[in-house]
Amino acid sequence: MFEKFLQQSLDDLENRSLRRRLRVSSATTGTSVTIAGQTLHNFASNDYLGLASHHDVVEAAVRATRDHGAGAGASRLITGTQSPHAQLEEKLAMFKRTEAALLFGSGTAASVGALQALAGKDDVILLDRLSHACLVDGARLSGAVYRAFAHNNTAELRHHLRWAREKYPQARIFIVTESVFSMDGDIAPLRDIVDLKEEFGAVLMLDEAHAVGVLGHGGRGLADQLGLSNRIEVHMGTLGKALGSSGGYIAGTRTLVDFLANRARSFIFSTAPPASTAAAASAALEICSGEDGDRRRARLRQLASILDPSMPAAIHPVIVGDADEALRRAEALRRLGFFVPAIRPPTVPKGTSRLRVSLSAVHDDAVLNSLAQILRGMQPVADSGTRDPDTVCPVCGAALVSEKCKVVCRSATCGYRIVFNCSEF
Ligand SMILES: Cc1ncc(COP(=O)(O)O)c(C=O)c1O
Repeated sequence: MFEKFLQQSLDDLENRSLRRRLRVSSATTGTSVTIAGQTLHNFASNDYLGLASHHDVVEAAVRATRDHGAGAGASRLITGTQSPHAQLEEKLAMFKRTEAALLFGSGTAASVGALQALAGKDDVILLDRLSHACLVDGARLSGAVYRAFAHNNTAELRHHLRWAREKYPQARIFIVTESVFSMDGDIAPLRDIVDLKEEFGAVLMLDEAHAVGVLGHGGRGLADQLGLSNRIEVHMGTLGKALGSSGGYIAGTRTLVDFLANRARSFIFSTAPPASTAAAASAALEICSGEDGDRRRARLRQLASILDPSMPAAIHPVIVGDADEALRRAEALRRLGFFVPAIRPPTVPKGTSRLRVSLSAVHDDAVLNSLAQILRGMQPVADSGTRDPDTVCPVCGAALVSEKCKVVCRSATCGYRIVFNCSEF
């Protein structure tokens, strides 16, 4: 019975093109990934600055492993706090220009642990509707009343704040949002949100997972870029994206950090992250906040302008709509040598499945130009109205021919084709 239930659930996901599968991959250069023997240009990584394979970052991890062992052996509050953890927390606090920072095993653990600890059943949490799952889970786990406001809609946020103040006059109100949104790549109207927060006496938790390394002075994030850091109570981030390592953090006042070290269950009841990841993140922070980091950010902006100069960060979504179609296009790209993931519900709302292109400072212009050309070719005629039917094949340079529901390369040997909503693909 139990196995049958599991299989039926998986079949149901399969029928809706929503089943996911684990793939073993190896990515060593930051720009290529090998999956099932095929080496692909990697546009799926959040290693935005290319630091995961940076010599100094890797060496720091190796040294820390030799010095401190492969695992910390206990939770942070028992004997798991080693010098790389303490050094990283000090560096993170300096980087975020806060009094203190607390390291967690992952960004998810940081968000879930912080929200669960900070809010309780008498409180209210107002979240942007497109907030990452870990923020939603933290809000749920806290037991607080929580409501989502329409994405980046400060009028609706104001409405919810007014409602919360009237209905729960004693409640502490938390506003939770991301600065750069993980699946849309757009940014929050942070100045307005901070103003609203102060008007209503609320607390703001800001997830800068996709902004750290990419935006702000030295890659400190959007809050820093807008000069708002010291008006935000809870700064959250991950070390697993632009900082090339793994782990997550909360930064803020010393009191906030001490409180979380005593109350955040995902911190207290979990083995400390290995010293190697903390040391790697420290090395990455040094690079990120220095001149090399500035060069990498400039390069990222240069690359972004090839795809869409209006996008503020490294994430470029290509909205497709239908989950099945998104999978088909991702598969077409894979055959052409590009790994661009299809993002489907529940990661994004129903009907907004997409290809998500993530850029890294170490990507190559020519490769990105090819990808941009292919993506433009993939826009169905009805969507773009501007697609040039005589576009040159991005693979072999021969002419492309438009047919009823596909674009096909004229070369007999190339095989490049893009099919739109056709079952024959
Ligand atoms: C916006 C956002 N917040 C938090 C996380 C969680 O971070 P981690 O991967 O370190 O658990 C992610 C990861 O995808 C994210 O995109």
